[in-house]
Amino acid sequence: MPPAQPMPHHALAGASGSAVPEHPPAGATLERAMCWVNGLRANPDAPALSVSDRGFTLADGCFETMRAYRGVIFCLDAHMARLSVTAARLGIPVPPHHEQTVAAATRELRAARADASVRLTMSRGTGAGVAAPSGVVPTTVLLIGRLPAVPATLATTGITARIASGRRNEYAPSAGLKTLSYTDTVLALTEARDHGADDALFLDTAGHLCEGTSSNLFLVAGGIVRTPPRSCGILPGITRQTVLGILESMGIAADEAPIPPGELDAADEVFLTSSVREIAPVTRIGERRVGSGRPGPLTGRVRAAYRGLVASAIADELDGTA
Ligand SMILES: Cc1ncc(COP(=O)(O)O)c(C=O)c1O
Repeated sequence: MPPAQPMPHHALAGASGSAVPEHPPAGATLERAMCWVNGLRANPDAPALSVSDRGFTLADGCFETMRAYRGVIFCLDAHMARLSVTAARLGIPVPPHHEQTVAAATRELRAARADASVRLTMSRGTGAGVAAPSGVVPTTVLLIGRLPAVPATLATTGITARIASGRRNEYAPSAGLKTLSYTDTVLALTEARDHGADDALFLDTAGHLCEGTSSNLFLVAGGIVRTPPRSCGILPGITRQTVLGILESMGIAADEAPIPPGELDAADEVFLTSSVREIAPVTRIGERRVGSGRPGPLTGRVRAAYRGLVASAIADELDGTA
């Protein structure tokens, strides 16, 4: 199991004393994507990647997806720490230009004051065959693009989900790691969409609730908040960690113990967490309505607290460097 992931560096109570908005104000629209391949600026539409890159041929690598608000990446340090842990577990050395590239990208992003999605991909490098070659130089791609469109109704109507027929394998050596292998995720999402649902929820091999396709899962029943533990094979999400902190600051300690899927029937509220989508209420699972069928009050409070926390952290960063 990877070492515990650090708390995001923006302390919950660490917001500046000055008045900050409840929501992060919108940043500029990113004019064009920005891309770095192996530390050098590249055209994102014609990047120079080898056809033998193991990320392409074997999904042999890892990545991070982050969200930038007004040019500032939220929880950058926590994402970089998770990437380092994953790369170390995969035996991929972080290339020497890595820090400089991230610094250059964050500088440009900040100058653009843009809202964006930031993806850092790292593969083992090039090589034929399956066995991990030694001495190869890892490939890195840092891509800054526009955020995916999130429906304006997300907070008011929520999303629908469906239990995936495939399962997360909590015994896999890659369990809990953000590797490039998202085939099961793509198939689960396709299956969910084919059945008219927005997203899918994975169970682990023991049949416990695990996570969404690209998100962590929380449910609220009778005032108790529960979220699957790391032993169920979840990705230890950075937003999940932030939400656990928010709940604690509200005096609500979340229970991290395996959850049988039947518990969803008794749930008053369900929500998913991820860096890009933040807090997404789930209002229908399969044929069953969750609670009242509308996003629940605790989900609303957590969402507001999360957005307030982001707003504070971004304002603090911008104040400190303006
Ligand atoms: C499988 C999976 N679980 C959870 C998450 C949420 O992680 P985070 O909050 O760090 O974005 C993601 C994010 O992409 C994911 O792919």
